[in-house]
Amino acid sequence: MSTRTPCAVIVLAAGAGTRMKSATQKTLHAIGGRSLLSHSLHAAEGINPEHLVAVVGHQRDQVIPEVERVAEELDREVLQAVQEEQNGTGDAVAAGLRPIPEYEGTVIVTNADVPLLRAETIQALFDAHTTASAAVTVLSLDLNDPTGYGRIVRNDAGEVTEIVEQKDASEEQKEITEVNSGVFAFDGRVLNHALTQLNTDNAQGELYITDVLAIARREGHTVGAHLADDPRELAGVNNRVQLAAAGKEFNRRTVEAAMLGGATIIDPETTFIGVNVVIGQDVTIHPNTQLWGATHISDGAVIGPDTTLTDVTVGTRASVIRTQGERSTIGADATVGPFTYLRPHTVLGTGGKLGGFVESKNATIGAGSKVPHLTYIGDATVGEETNIGASSVFVNYDGVNKHHTTIGDHCRTGSDTMFVAPVTVGDGAYTGAGTVVTDDVPAGALAVKEGKQRVIEGWVEKKRPGTPAAEAAQRAREKEGK
Ligand code: UD1
Ligand code: CA
Repeated sequence: MSTRTPCAVIVLAAGAGTRMKSATQKTLHAIGGRSLLSHSLHAAEGINPEHLVAVVGHQRDQVIPEVERVAEELDREVLQAVQEEQNGTGDAVAAGLRPIPEYEGTVIVTNADVPLLRAETIQALFDAHTTASAAVTVLSLDLNDPTGYGRIVRNDAGEVTEIVEQKDASEEQKEITEVNSGVFAFDGRVLNHALTQLNTDNAQGELYITDVLAIARREGHTVGAHLADDPRELAGVNNRVQLAAAGKEFNRRTVEAAMLGGATIIDPETTFIGVNVVIGQDVTIHPNTQLWGATHISDGAVIGPDTTLTDVTVGTRASVIRTQGERSTIGADATVGPFTYLRPHTVLGTGGKLGGFVESKNATIGAGSKVPHLTYIGDATVGEETNIGASSVFVNYDGVNKHHTTIGDHCRTGSDTMFVAPVTVGDGAYTGAGTVVTDDVPAGALAVKEGKQRVIEGWVEKKRPGTPAAEAAQRAREKEGK
């Protein structure tokens, strides 16, 4: 393991988030395929801290499992601290220090509702804090409209003296445009001591973490602010309008990364790429495409338009058009779509084809095999270079159990074949159009199951007289001179 940065990061996620108007705790809402909480823990892990602490409180029965899931994903310990009552940000940080008592390194505090914050920015704050030998460094923002934020108050010498909340600010202080992002670096010892000095003599009757600045300064420590380059990175998510805006901004990043990695994206505005998606070089993505989960698009593949793939692996040069797919694998040079539905555990071999109006599930289709038109293929294994006729159904369900169909290499099955599972079709076998295959077909055999066609001459004119069909039949007969 690479050397840890001598710091602890405390991520605050205890708040109620009432403005989301949701049964789901605020930080569990997702953008880019990842919860807000997970984004913040990933960013914190990005600086490789000695300790990572999540402060939970409100709806923690929901939040704790997500903390544990992310810890597993990050393959590191994430300590949990419970803030029983939400008595303010100062109280939340005090809770966050409980699992790391008397920690003397740098303590960084971030919020779980700022999903766009990058590890690089946390690192820059840490570096500025360390370089200045400061006791407290606040990550500040310069905003055109500072309403609602705590204002960074400086003296005539330009030194930071305190942070004043909107509700406690004088008219003059409200004019200040430099504000508190809610992200801080503290000297651990100074922080532990200052937290014992906080009080609730303020407009909200809460313990404010922001008061630590004035306390530290009063006690002779250096207090500073590090101005963030891009205030958009610290945009908080408090309601669904902000959630959508943050999602859009995050997507801009993932789409841009794909383009800079060598993918052509025809319309970045209508292309959505989740945070864990991997996209190769010379991939082309057409409009209205969404790629989620652990989707992997290999070099030279063409995806979309109108395609949504979740946890799908697409091989080199494959083409996937107007397709909905989930937990499936598409081989190199294979083609899928248009209007194809890949359900979980579809595996399409190299150069294979799943064509229009085909639905597949739990089906392995060998190299060069084609299921071109209007077919349901479920619980099946198809060999190589086989062609499944149009409008076939793999009848896999008897109403109680699912059964498997196995089809060999180089088969040619007729249109409208029903494979009533469990059934096996040997290599090189054929089936006739309309065959209901209920028994195994040996290699090289032709299976047909049809009665001789009956033709009843003159039936329409006799049984449906006066109809357009009867009139057409009569004209045809007259033309033939009958
Ligand atoms: C806080 C800052 C303000 C800053 C703003 C940036 C204080 C007093 N004010 O204001 O200066 O400009 O953030 O967004 O710190 N939380 C807890 N437990 C609590 C209270 C809050 O975990 O008891 C968490 C919340 O879930 C949230 C964060 O702390 O993630 C900030 O709390 P919030 O109440 O939103 O603070 P603001 O009023 O926005
Ligand atoms: Ca807030």
